[in-house]
Amino acid sequence: MNSISSNKSSHLIGDLSVPGDKSISHRSLIIGSLVNGRIEINNLLESDDVLATASALRILGVPINKLNNKWEVFGSGIGNFYGSNYVLNMGNSGTGARLLMGLVAGSDVEATFVGDASLSKRPMKRITIPLSQTGAKIKGQTNNLPINIKGNKIVLPIEYKSSVSSAQVKSSILLAGLSSLGNTTVIEPSLSRDHTERMLNFFGANISTEQLNDKSWKITLDGVPELKPQNINIPGDPSSASFPIVSAIITPHSKVKIMGVCINELRIGLYRTLIEMGANIKFSNQREMNGELIADITASSSSLKGITVPRSRASSMIDEYPILSIAATRAIGETIMEGVEELRYKETDRIKTICKGLNKVGIGTHETKNSMIIKGKGPNATIIGDVEINSNLDHRIAMSFLCLGLITEKPIVVKDTDTINSSFPFFIDAMKKIGAKLNFL
Ligand code: S3P
Repeated sequence: MNSISSNKSSHLIGDLSVPGDKSISHRSLIIGSLVNGRIEINNLLESDDVLATASALRILGVPINKLNNKWEVFGSGIGNFYGSNYVLNMGNSGTGARLLMGLVAGSDVEATFVGDASLSKRPMKRITIPLSQTGAKIKGQTNNLPINIKGNKIVLPIEYKSSVSSAQVKSSILLAGLSSLGNTTVIEPSLSRDHTERMLNFFGANISTEQLNDKSWKITLDGVPELKPQNINIPGDPSSASFPIVSAIITPHSKVKIMGVCINELRIGLYRTLIEMGANIKFSNQREMNGELIADITASSSSLKGITVPRSRASSMIDEYPILSIAATRAIGETIMEGVEELRYKETDRIKTICKGLNKVGIGTHETKNSMIIKGKGPNATIIGDVEINSNLDHRIAMSFLCLGLITEKPIVVKDTDTINSSFPFFIDAMKKIGAKLNFL
C-alpha cells in the first residue's frame, strides 16, 4: 500500500478536467446492460469501483468492451440474466454492490456479493429488506457482505418508504422494479441524486417524481419499459472536482478552472455551501448532456467564514463533507454540519475519521451521532502538520487530507492511498499539474 506526502504549495493555477462522474459511470454500464441493443459510452470513469461493476456485469454474461477511448455495452433487455453460483466481487464499491443487487433481484439469477474489508462492514439491510419485498430470496446474512441473492424475472410491485435518503437504496429498488408488471414506488425523506431516474427516462422509461405534503419525495416507475439504446457522454465528477477547487480556495494566490463538470442540482450542495462561506466560485458555459446539466467551474483563493450547513442539504453533498471539513479549518468561526449521520456508514465512519485527523493537526472538532462541528482557525493561522493520517481505505478521506497538507507548515503523510483509484485515478497527476506538491513515498 502506498503512502503520499503532501507539502506546502505556494499557489495552484491552471485548467483541469476531472474524470467522468462515478455515479453516472456505474449507471451507464448497468442500465446499458438492460437496453435492447448496443450503446457506446464516452468518458467512462475507469476507476477501481467502476471497473468492478464492469467485471461483475461481464460475469453475468454482458459483453462489455473498451474500444480506443470509448466503451461499448451490449444490453439484452430487462431481466434477461440467467444462471446461478455467480460470485461478484464489488471491491470497495457500495454503489456497484447495491445497484447490482437490484439488477440481480429482477432477473432469474442467483449470485453472492463479496467486497473488501471496508465494503464488508457497510450496512446492506437497507437494500436486502426492500429487495426481499419484491420477491428476491436472501440466503444467510442480510446486513453484511457476503450476501447471496436469488432474483426473479418478474418481481412484485412495491411501495417502499425508506428512512434514509439514499440514491443507492432508491436505485437498487428501481432497477429491480424494471422487472415488475406494476408500478414501483420509493419514498425518501429528501431527494437523493437522481441519475438513475434521468438515465432510465433518457432510455425511454417513465419515472415521475413528486413532493408529498410531509415534504418527503415519491418516485414512481412504470414497470417493464422498453429501454432503447442511446449513446452516453459522462460529464466530469463534481465530487472529484471538489478537491482541486477547495485546494485553490484555501491556498493563497490560486485560481483553477475545472472543465465540463456535472452540476445536477442534487450534487452541488458543497458549492452552494462554499459560496455561502464566502468562496469565489463561478459557474460558466452551462450546457446539457444526456439529460444532465454541466458547466465549467472556476475557483480562486478566498476568505471563508463558518456557517451552519442544514440537514436539508446533506444528500446533495453527502460525499463532500470530508473536503468541506478541510475548507472549514480555514474559516473564521465554527462550521456546523447538521443531519450527517449517514457519514458514519460510508467507506469508513467519516465523522470519526475526519475529527481524529483534524485533532491531530490541532483543529478543534465536536461530534454527536448526527452532527459535526469544525472550529476554524481563520485564514492566517498556522497549522503545523507533520502528522500521518490513515485513509481507512476511504478515498475521500485520503484526498481530503492531502489537500490539507498543501497549506500546513510541515508535510502531511497519508497512508494507504491506493484507495484513491476507486474514484479519482490520476488524482496526483491532476493536482501536480496545477502546482500541488504531492510525492509518493
Ligand atoms: C451514490 C450515492 C451516495 C454516495 C455514493 C454514490 C450513488 O450514497 O455517497 O458515493 O451513485 O448512488 P447514498 O445516496 O446511498 O447515501
